[in-house]
Parts: sequence; structure tokens; C-alpha cells
Amino acid sequence: KAAKAERAVAMSAARGVSVQCSTAPPVELEACSGTRDWYPEEFRLQRWLFEKFRQTATRTGFEEYDAPVLERQELYKRKAGEEITSQMYAFVDQDGVDVTLRPEMTPTLARMVLGRAASMMLPLKWFSIPQCWRFETTQRGRKREHYQWNMDIIGCKSISAETELLYAVCEFFRSIGITSADVGIKVNSRKVMASVLDSYGITAEKFAPVCVIMDKLDKIGDEAVIEELVNAQNLPKETAEKIVACLACKNVDELAALCGEGVDQTGIEELKRLFSLADDYGFGDWLIFDASVVRGLAYYTGIVFEGFDRAGELRAICGGGRYDKLLSLYGAMSEVPACGFGFGDCVIVELLKEKGLVPVLPKSIEFVVAAFNEGMQGKAMKAAALIRSGGADVDMLLEPKKKVANTFDYANRIGARYIVFVAPQEWENGMVRIKDLRAEYTDKEDEKQLDVKLSDLGRVS
Ligand code: HAM
Repeated sequence: KAAKAERAVAMSAARGVSVQCSTAPPVELEACSGTRDWYPEEFRLQRWLFEKFRQTATRTGFEEYDAPVLERQELYKRKAGEEITSQMYAFVDQDGVDVTLRPEMTPTLARMVLGRAASMMLPLKWFSIPQCWRFETTQRGRKREHYQWNMDIIGCKSISAETELLYAVCEFFRSIGITSADVGIKVNSRKVMASVLDSYGITAEKFAPVCVIMDKLDKIGDEAVIEELVNAQNLPKETAEKIVACLACKNVDELAALCGEGVDQTGIEELKRLFSLADDYGFGDWLIFDASVVRGLAYYTGIVFEGFDRAGELRAICGGGRYDKLLSLYGAMSEVPACGFGFGDCVIVELLKEKGLVPVLPKSIEFVVAAFNEGMQGKAMKAAALIRSGGADVDMLLEPKKKVANTFDYANRIGARYIVFVAPQEWENGMVRIKDLRAEYTDKEDEKQLDVKLSDLGRVS
């Protein structure tokens, strides 16, 4: 019995102590619906992903910015029937201000640029990875909070800006092993759409709300879109049907032909130039024209685009476009050209899982320092500090284990490469013993260890 108890104690010492929880805890332990806790093992993947976002952005010359998650509601009140405005986590704060958790970053970016308008030298190339909040129906790839990598260029009229953004998106995909056979980017132009719709009698005023309805095509289907255009925008049924039909155009020329001479030629030229620049840049194979992509946000004015998985199983991976009128809506004295994209952290992880591309990211650390016994703990801490002074990551074993085997188990559990044993015998000679747990150069146990002088510990990593 005693031996069994001793084994149980030894096992739990090796595994570490775990928490026992009641089957009926007095508080809900799940995170709020549609939100995620980030346990360290999941957080490692998030950090890896964000590092790839950051690397892509900095490599293309973009600077990082950030802002509070709390914003004033007025920034989002665009009255175009956008879903996003009805999904806000909005409330009145104790000052009586109508605030909300930000549902997206673009209005914040516009606010920040205008906040220092005079001192901003254009063009600006900025990126951010904000957490955004939308009260959505939770489903695969859609949550109530998500992190959204944003890259935006403010102050550039040229289609080079859109090209640069799309290049960055494709480079990011490549950096995580996704190819143009897995993912494509659908591109369209709201400028061209506006002239087509104008030829159907849709006024400039109605254009944005009509786009918001057209954007629902994938989700609710042709009939429901026609119905909403008729009911919410008072369009004749025939016009609504023509609008839905034009979304099926297969190429730019087919779309342009729908309004003949009246088509916005700059819009057509921009689209063609974008495809040609993308070829020159080396990512033309990722792009396809798609007239059904109009985007669900009211502020877009030019090129719009959306990333999609070619297998057709997931929601949009990313989306963006040009929004030349947003800054003047917030107070700029004249139009400020702007474009950008948002790229969520949910669908991309689903895609990586589908493709078997999720990286293995085990917990790991260079050193663990273990005292021989409680009496040696202070010395071991001194050794840990010396090793850290050289820039290495060091885990301090907080309670010395009775058995050496348990120290090895602990070191394996935390993914340590080396154990630094601090024991009286070596310490008397001004040394500690370092054991290499992954030594591949020898089979002999005593060759896997080295006694190192305290004065050299700052140089062991
Ligand atoms: P958006 O299309 O609403 O655009 O969102 C961009 C991306 O954010 C989506 O393609 C998706 O990856 C991700 N996303 C959006 N909602 C959710 C959600 N509920 N759960 C998970 N992921 C989500 C915008 O927000 C624009 N402000 C993007 C932009 C930046 N346009 C110009 N600059």
C-alpha cells in the first residue's frame, strides 16, 4: 500500500499538480458566446500568425499603429443599412456618451489621420491588428470578436496602392504555405458598378445602400436580394432583376457593355491596369474579376476585393477596397484618397487546418535551473540570474524535486533543452552541471553534461 502511495506521489510530482474542479461550479467557466480564451497552447499559434502579419506589413514598408477598442458610435452611423451597424456592442457610458466596442478599424484610422491632419505627410502606409467586436451569429470562421489585420494606404490616388495591398495579401498567403491553387482574390470596381446601376436609374444617393443589399447575394440568394431591393429601396422589380443579373458578368468587358457608352472609363482602365500590374508584380494568378463582389460596407468608392478559398467551403478570408470619401465625411476639407483591407484571424486558421498547414509549435525554453535541495535554492536562483544576464530564457524550478527523474520529467514537460543542476559538490568548486537533453552527438550519458564555471554562465546560451 505504502509503495503504491509513494508511486502516486512520485507520478503527480512528475506531472505537476493539477486543479480539481467541481462538476457544478458556482460561476460559468466558458468564455462568453462567440469569444475565445487564449490558453498558452492556442496563444502560441496566434502569436505565430500575428508575426506573419507583422512581417509581411513591415517588409512592404508599413508602420504599426493602434487605438482603444472603445469608440464613439457616431463613427459608424452611416445610415446605409449596413449589417455592421446593427451588430455593435453599443452602450451609453457614465458620461452619457454613446460608445461601442469597435466593429472594424477603418473609421478609427480615418479619425486618427484627421486628428493630426496638418502634420501627416502623405501617403501614409499603416497597419494594425485590432480586436473587433460584432454581435454576429457564431459559425465556422465567424465569431463575436476577432482580430483583424488591417493594412491601409492614405493619400494615394493611383491604382498602385491597391496593387501594393494585394501583393501584401498574396505574400502573406505564400509565407504560410497557401498557394494560388488554394486561394483566389475576387476583384471588382464600385466605380464601374455605379455607372452600370446609373444606367438602370439608380441615383448616386441610393448606390451605397443598394451595394449593401447586393452584397448579401451569397448569403440569401437571388430572390431574397430582389425582394429586398424592391421593398427596402422601392425599386421596380424589373430593375432589381437587372441588378442581380449584372452580378453574374464573367469579365470586365461584359459588365462595361451593360451600360454601353455611358460606362465609367476610368473604372474600366483601373481594373485593367490592376490586373496588368499584378502580372508584372508576380501575383496575377491569384486575381479574378467577379462582378458579384461589391462589399457590404457603404464607404467603398472604387476597386473592391475579397479573398476566398477555391474549394468554396469557407466564408470570405479577407476583404477591402478604396474609400476615397470617408475622410471628407469625417471633416477633411477635400477628398483624401484611401484604400486598405481587413484580414481576420478565424477563417485563415480554418484554412490552415483544412490544408494540414497548422505549424507544430511546442512549448520550449532553453534552460531549466534545478537546485539539489531546498538549501541550494538561493544558489540556483543566482545561477539562473547569471544565465539570464547573457540573454537566455531560463525557467527556475520553484520546488526542488526529490528524485532526479522528476526533474527530467519537468524539463521535458516545459520543452527545456538544458537542465542546470546546482548541487553542493560542484558549487564548492565554483561550478554548476549542465545537462544537454537533446544531445545527438553522443550516446554516452556523461558526455552529455558539462561542468561550467559560474563566471562563464552569462555566456552559455
Ligand atoms: P470586412 O469585410 O467587414 O471589412 O471584414 C474584413 C475581414 O475581417 C473579413 O474578410 C473576415 O476575415 C474578418 N471578419 C469580419 N467579421 C468577422 C467575424 N465576425 N468573425 C471573424 N472574422 C471576421 C472591414 O472590416 C473593413 N474595415 C476592411 C477594410 C480596411 N477596408 C479598408 N480598410
